[in-house]
This record gives sequence, structure tokens and C-alpha cells, in this order.
Amino acid sequence: MIKIFKADESHVAGIAKVCTEGYWATYQELLTKERIQRIVEEFYNHERILQEVTHSDRNWGGYFVAVENNVVVGAGGGGGMIDETTGELYVLYVDPSRRNEGIGTMILDAITKQQKEEFNATEQWVSVAKGNMKGIPFYEARGFVFQHERASYGNAEGEDYVSLRYFRKL
Ligand SMILES: CC(C)(COP(=O)(O)OP(=O)(O)OC[C@H]1O[C@@H](n2cnc3c(N)ncnc32)[C@H](O)[C@@H]1OP(=O)(O)O)[C@@H](O)C(=O)NCCC(=O)NCCS
Repeated sequence: MIKIFKADESHVAGIAKVCTEGYWATYQELLTKERIQRIVEEFYNHERILQEVTHSDRNWGGYFVAVENNVVVGAGGGGGMIDETTGELYVLYVDPSRRNEGIGTMILDAITKQQKEEFNATEQWVSVAKGNMKGIPFYEARGFVFQHERASYGNAEGEDYVSLRYFRKL
């Protein structure tokens, strides 16, 4: 049985693994190896994730994990508020071999509940890389609607990757 938890120290290694593997599986055809390596090292290292599971506030709601037989099979995070009533979803990955079983929806629901109940969110935004067909159909199925394009966060000198901003009312 799959259960959803607010992540703690015991989930750090599992979050790092699922996000790293998910990131590679999602972006190997879209981004250069160098960019993937840079992002994975910056965001999904154990030290950073440990900080992010032990400190949460309005701007960063912590990580939520989907756990099956003590193994992290999905992780999502952020739950951060970007203004009074607007929540942002920062991260969402499911074990690449476990997609389309409903796990992503369970994690998104937990983050959404937190944003609504703890932070009074009435809308939710997410950025998806242009061309990410492992992510875009999921958000559209969950009621997110495309709003506009913008330069991807973390573009290095000379990189011009584009992200799509999606929005839904809660
Ligand atoms: C995005 C992701 C987290 C979703 O988690 P998941 O467990 O696979 O998703 P779920 O099984 O909960 O839901 C999938 C939904 O997307 C829909 N979907 C999936 N692929 C689709 C497609 N090609 N066309 C139309 N709908 C599609 C399914 O129909 C389902 O909706 P439904 O329940 O209404 O039928 C996961 O697929 C993933 O890790 N993707 C790669 C990483 C990624 O892109 N993350 C987002 C970065 S911003």
C-alpha cells in the first residue's frame, strides 16, 4: 500500500534518489547532460534536502513523499506561497517505472491541502519545461491551464531554455 507523508530526515536518501532518477528520465532528451548534472547536484544533494525537510514555512512547505514498503516512490515539494493567496508547486517526481498509477496525484493532493488549509491558497502555479511531455499532460489532466512562457529558472550564460507557466484555481 502506498502512503503519503510529510517528509522527515528518514526520507532524505529516498527523495534524492527519486528526484535524481526522475530528473534524468524526464530531461535526457530535452536538456544537455551538463545542465542536468548541474541542476541535480544543486537541488537534489542530501545536504540541501535535509535542510528542506527540517525547515518549512510559508515560502517552502517542505517535501511530501509517497512511500511503499519503506521505499520512497514519489516526492513533491514546495507548497510555497508566492503571494497572499497564490501557492507554487516547486518539485514533483515519481519513480520513472511507477508513472501513471495515481502516485503523482496523491502527492499533489497533499501539497494542495497544505496550501489551502495552512496558507489560505486560492490558486496554484507550476512551471513545466517546454516540451516536457512526461509532465504537461499530467498538469492538464489535473486542471492546470497554460498561461505564458518565460525563461527557465537557472539558465546559465548562453542557455535559453523556456518554461511554461500553468495555473489552476483551488
Ligand atoms: C508528472 C508526474 C509527477 C505525475 O505523476 P503520476 O503518478 O505519473 O501521475 P498520475 O498517475 O497521478 O496521473 C496521471 C494523469 O495524467 C494523465 N496523463 C498522463 N499521460 C497523459 C497523456 N500522454 N495524455 C493525456 N493524459 C495523460 C493521466 O490520464 C492521468 O489523469 P487521470 O487520472 O485523470 O486519468 C510523473 O508522471 C512524473 O514523475 N513525470 C516526470 C517528471 C515530471 O515531469 N515532473 C514534473 C516536473 S514540473
